[in-house]
Amino acid sequence: MDLGIAGKLAVVTGASGGLGESIAQALAAEGANVMLFARSLDKLAHVASELRTQHPVRAVPVAGDMRSRDDVRRLGATVRAEFGGADILVVNTGRPPLPMREALDETDDERWEEAYRIQLWSAILVMREITPMLVQRGWGRVIAVTSASVMQPMDKHALFTVFRAGVTGYLKHLANETASRGVTVNAVCPASVETKGLRASYDLEERARRIPVRRVGKPEELAAAVAFLASRQAGYITGVSIPVDGGQTASLF
Ligand SMILES: NC(=O)c1ccc[n+]([C@@H]2O[C@H](COP(=O)([O-])OP(=O)(O)OC[C@H]3O[C@@H](n4cnc5c(N)ncnc54)[C@H](OP(=O)(O)O)[C@@H]3O)[C@@H](O)[C@H]2O)c1
Repeated sequence: MDLGIAGKLAVVTGASGGLGESIAQALAAEGANVMLFARSLDKLAHVASELRTQHPVRAVPVAGDMRSRDDVRRLGATVRAEFGGADILVVNTGRPPLPMREALDETDDERWEEAYRIQLWSAILVMREITPMLVQRGWGRVIAVTSASVMQPMDKHALFTVFRAGVTGYLKHLANETASRGVTVNAVCPASVETKGLRASYDLEERARRIPVRRVGKPEELAAAVAFLASRQAGYITGVSIPVDGGQTASLF
């Protein structure tokens, strides 16, 4: 299926590794140009170089911290200078602080502050900066990577659940405001998608036994869901959160 996004500009945050890198790969494979944002310029430059080698697209790295208003403004300025605007925004963030703890054991204010800044505040800063460019073009796709814990809170995930629920609320407001202007806004909600972070936190064989499909997910499976939501064909889907979790989420919706 041709997703109809060749030549469009996708801004992908948290793109120097893990799920963000896989998402940038999937969009570039569809012919989208990509602007890659994260803190490590060397890693971003490596990802960008690989994308340019593998696909006939422009891939531009921009180093910065999503928690910094100035850095996010600089990202916006670079998007305007290099591409004159954007069509697709993928908001992927860093993880909350480790180790994971029970809610009542989360007594360290700095952990709450950091979890808020990396998951919710950074996402709002980026959406606030880039989404108006999509609206201006009259067509666009915003896709956020949140977590299946917004549907079914998992043990020791309070620092995830609370702020990812906040992101989900912001997305819904944005979706309601931008739908009539050609811009859809959705979330993909991973659980047990294999990344370095997941391998560091869990015994993957034990985890796989608890997942209906009996295996952990592949980053490219999450990325494929993002690519579909970014597509021309997904224009009638907005304001929703889609689990990509092998059936792990036990809720009806
Ligand atoms: N894997 C799963 O099953 C699963 C489940 C639920 C939720 N998630 C969420 O999905 C997201 C991606 O997961 P992942 O495993 O790919 O994470 P990861 O490997 O830790 O990658 C996070 C990315 O975000 C960037 N980043 C971190 N802090 C940043 C900051 N302050 N400013 C700009 N960029 C920043 C990192 O690059 P730099 O270090 O270079 O900045 C990296 O590119 C995370 O938020 C995670 O919590 C994943």
